[in-house]
Amino acid sequence: MKASDFLKTLEELEDNEQIETLIDRDKRRSPSPARNPKRLSSGDAQFVRAQDDSTRNFEFTYKAARFEEGWLLDSLGYFYEQHWISDVLRKIKAGKEASVYLCRAGEQVDAPLVAAKVYRPRMLRNLRKDHIYHEGRVVLDAEGHEVIDVHALQAVLNRTNFGEQVRHQSWIAYEYTTLQVLFDAGVKVPRPYENAQNAILMGYLGDETLAAPTLNNVSLDPGEARSLFDRLLTNIDLMLAQERVHGDLSAYNVLYWDGDIALIDFPQVVSPTGNRNAYAIFERDICCLCEYFIEQGLPLQPRRIAADLWRAHGYRLGPDIHPSLLDADDPKDRTAWNGG
Ligand SMILES: Nc1ncnc2c1ncn2[C@@H]1O[C@H](COP(=O)(O)OP(=O)(O)OP(=O)(O)O)[C@@H](O)[C@H]1O
Ligand SMILES: [Mg+2]
Repeated sequence: MKASDFLKTLEELEDNEQIETLIDRDKRRSPSPARNPKRLSSGDAQFVRAQDDSTRNFEFTYKAARFEEGWLLDSLGYFYEQHWISDVLRKIKAGKEASVYLCRAGEQVDAPLVAAKVYRPRMLRNLRKDHIYHEGRVVLDAEGHEVIDVHALQAVLNRTNFGEQVRHQSWIAYEYTTLQVLFDAGVKVPRPYENAQNAILMGYLGDETLAAPTLNNVSLDPGEARSLFDRLLTNIDLMLAQERVHGDLSAYNVLYWDGDIALIDFPQVVSPTGNRNAYAIFERDICCLCEYFIEQGLPLQPRRIAADLWRAHGYRLGPDIHPSLLDADDPKDRTAWNGG
């Protein structure tokens, strides 16, 4: 796609505030900037260039907007080539960070349908306030291995354009590796099949016409509410045993299908021992989840539930500080080191 076409297409995607912001920003710089690719920032220009390299070797049923089509071909081309998918059928949902698409499975998959979570281009992503989650997390590459290249790590710290790419990749890798670990441990999550530079492929919950609703859209009778809540706690317990705190848990990130549940959306996952805020994050997860179940009629004490689960795994309730995270100049950290 030529840069000028790309920018025109951005204008077609009216529902996206960030795209509008991007175009506005460009308009402020030049009288007819949307026609002038020279005015793009280096990051934007790099993204536009990436559109020229897309793998355009498969056609799919889903009628994507022009720009979206290029992005899907880039993001899902590998899954198609490797026979993980044979078609893209429709968009299930556009989220803040990613859109999820229903795909027909390829020969590699033992199921008729799969879900592909395709992350938005970095410049169009509504970045979560993610700094709180990064503490205690190593940077991962696309294969889920720790990045040890000093230049890459420095770029991440300096937030250069390349560093932001590495960070974006790491964010996706956390989602995929977490799905793998949790699925193998028997936690109710969609089955992870494969990941690519910008997308993950997983089991789909729903049928051809209807994707599983998220729990916040479902009304339960008290009996079912109790049994689903207990099942969720069992899963959260299993997650803690795997040293994973979801970090954005609520009824919005639980799918409900065939009377059962599945947890989704893991890029921000944190370790119970590696992050100073882990307990606060965990408690917030439990409180958000309980909010829904209290509305469904269950009498719950979220803070107590959180504390009991946490303690059962031997994690400390106070900020659990790994020595490598201590700051010699911070009096609170000095007190903690001295056992205070
Ligand atoms: N495996 C799946 N099967 C069916 N539907 C799914 C699946 N995974 C995700 N979805 C749907 O896609 C939506 C977005 O997924 P997810 O929460 O992982 O992405 P997100 O970009 O973080 O979205 P949001 O900003 O809404 O939290 C979910 O709310 C759900 O409706
Ligand atoms: Mg979500």
